Amino acid sequence: MPPEPPAIFAADCRACPRLAAFLEDVRTKHSDYHAAPVPAFGPLTARLLIVGLAPGMHGANATGRPFTGDYAGVLLYETLHAHGFASAPESTSADDGLELIDCRITNAVKCLPPQNKPTTEEIRTCNGFLAAEITAMQPQVILALGKIAHDAILRAKGLPLSSLRFAHGAEHTLDAETRLVDSYHCSRYNTQTRRLTPKMFHDLFARIRSHLG
Ligand code: URA
Repeated sequence: MPPEPPAIFAADCRACPRLAAFLEDVRTKHSDYHAAPVPAFGPLTARLLIVGLAPGMHGANATGRPFTGDYAGVLLYETLHAHGFASAPESTSADDGLELIDCRITNAVKCLPPQNKPTTEEIRTCNGFLAAEITAMQPQVILALGKIAHDAILRAKGLPLSSLRFAHGAEHTLDAETRLVDSYHCSRYNTQTRRLTPKMFHDLFARIRSHLG
């Protein structure tokens, strides 16, 4: 029998002791929350993979779907819909019927980290899932939302972190098939301070759409 390919997700992963303990605590306080590793959303056959940072406490960690239920997803899903990557402009819950089209969303870290800050070790520990996901998917474009996602993608591809510099709007060749596009993260902080404006985000997705045809 050939060896099993590496897992792209484990619903019961407890590899990071700090994150597992934090989730246990969150589960006692919010018994209605998902409060477990959050799986990627969207088809594995998609040509576009979007990589975020990690579930937000009252967003993905509550609903079980990336960027769903908190402010970080507002601009993301609205923009995905405008460019034909989502069936609706708003993602409200994991069972709202929204579908992603030729697009998949995942996170560099699958579990909710305290203060939204995973440690370097946690990012490394979770990186095997991202690497396996990229291998299984072979996306044409990977969109990194923020520098942590950018670095996690380089690590997953076995590239030195110093080899490709993160900058909003930058495009990099990861290999013959895959292009990496960088964006500032669509967090509440970045959108409210206008570090990332809707126009900047739309312009990036227009470019991605033109790459994919
Ligand atoms: N929600 C996610 O799923 N990922 C992020 O990076 C932020 C919010």
